[in-house]
Amino acid sequence: MLIPVIIAGGNGTRLWPLSRSHYPKQLLRIAGEHSMLQNTLLRLPAELREVRPIIVCNEQHRFLVAEQLNEIAIQADILLEPCGRNTAPAVALAALQARQRDTNASMLVCPADHTIGNPEQLEAAIEHARQAADQGLLVTFGVQPDRPETGFGYIRTGQPCGHHHRIARFVEKPDLDTARGFLESGEYLWNSGMFLFRAERYLEELRLRHPQMLAHCTHALLQGEVDLDFIRLDAPSFARCEDLSIDYAIMEHTEDGAVVPVPLCWSDLGSWQSLWEHMDKDSDGNHLRGDIIAYNSRNSLAMSDSRLVALLGVEDLVVVDTPDAILVAHKSQAQEVKRVTDTLRARK
Ligand code: GDD
Ligand code: MG
Repeated sequence: MLIPVIIAGGNGTRLWPLSRSHYPKQLLRIAGEHSMLQNTLLRLPAELREVRPIIVCNEQHRFLVAEQLNEIAIQADILLEPCGRNTAPAVALAALQARQRDTNASMLVCPADHTIGNPEQLEAAIEHARQAADQGLLVTFGVQPDRPETGFGYIRTGQPCGHHHRIARFVEKPDLDTARGFLESGEYLWNSGMFLFRAERYLEELRLRHPQMLAHCTHALLQGEVDLDFIRLDAPSFARCEDLSIDYAIMEHTEDGAVVPVPLCWSDLGSWQSLWEHMDKDSDGNHLRGDIIAYNSRNSLAMSDSRLVALLGVEDLVVVDTPDAILVAHKSQAQEVKRVTDTLRARK
């Protein structure tokens, strides 16, 4: 059985102040009728939409998540994390849950913060990844890079084998010079952030590389409580997990990584820069939402919930007005918004 797993517990800090810890970006309806979480489920190939997915999210968001699933008539196992510990533990919980449903289960792990313009490409890629996963490989989906983005993982493709390649090297979030080198070499793909592997195979890697994390997750689930679709974890056990992403914890180290290249029109709406790129723009390259006047201004993004915002003679700006916070930033600083949220967290 191939089980869709959606990891939706991030807090999308780089989209502050639109994305807040109580209402993170994956639950926002940024690009249309559905939220990114809903779109992640709706774009799954038909056969996978029949399988009850596993959603891993933060306990604070349980009602929002349940309501959004209800809107699109999907029932799921919803694993509730009492605190965020990044994606390695989140995927571990899902793997334990998947294995409980079927000892031989495989899982398609999808982040909930992407847009994909041509989801029909996913079907064949998932089938190819499933074949590689059946051989015990941990499979990523690689997309062609077009800029030296430092917010992604980079995969150097190794030996080809049918529709997949072995991963020769996986480098998570390189610095700018390294990313430039990777792009120029033409030998690297971006990690799209989706993964496919047998649940047991992921747990095996974790047992080898982060046995404590596996023990804490196992305990958190065993001691947890089931409440209808919600599965609550034992908070003290889960809190003991190291905060680590799957990329740093496993993908950079495994000897059994594989990549299926996919020609996806793919975008991680992770920052104001990527959001601006994705949004419809007027003839001056501005995306303006709300009551906004722009004059002699170009390539900017401005959003306002209520107040009138005016842009005069500016370029490459991000201006976001919400009831209790305003962001004014240069688009090139998009990756640095996290500094603001780090400062806010330190103040608490
Ligand atoms: N349940 C849960 N718990 N989900 C989480 C947590 C957590 O603590 N932290 C993050 N997530 C979810 C996010 O909501 C998102 O859907 C997904 O996991 C990926 O997390 P990000 O924080 O957005 O990761 P990233 O974008 O910096 O990097 C990953 O994705 C890139 C592609 O978008 C990596 O896999 C990179 O290698 C990859 O290139
Ligand atoms: Mg992301």
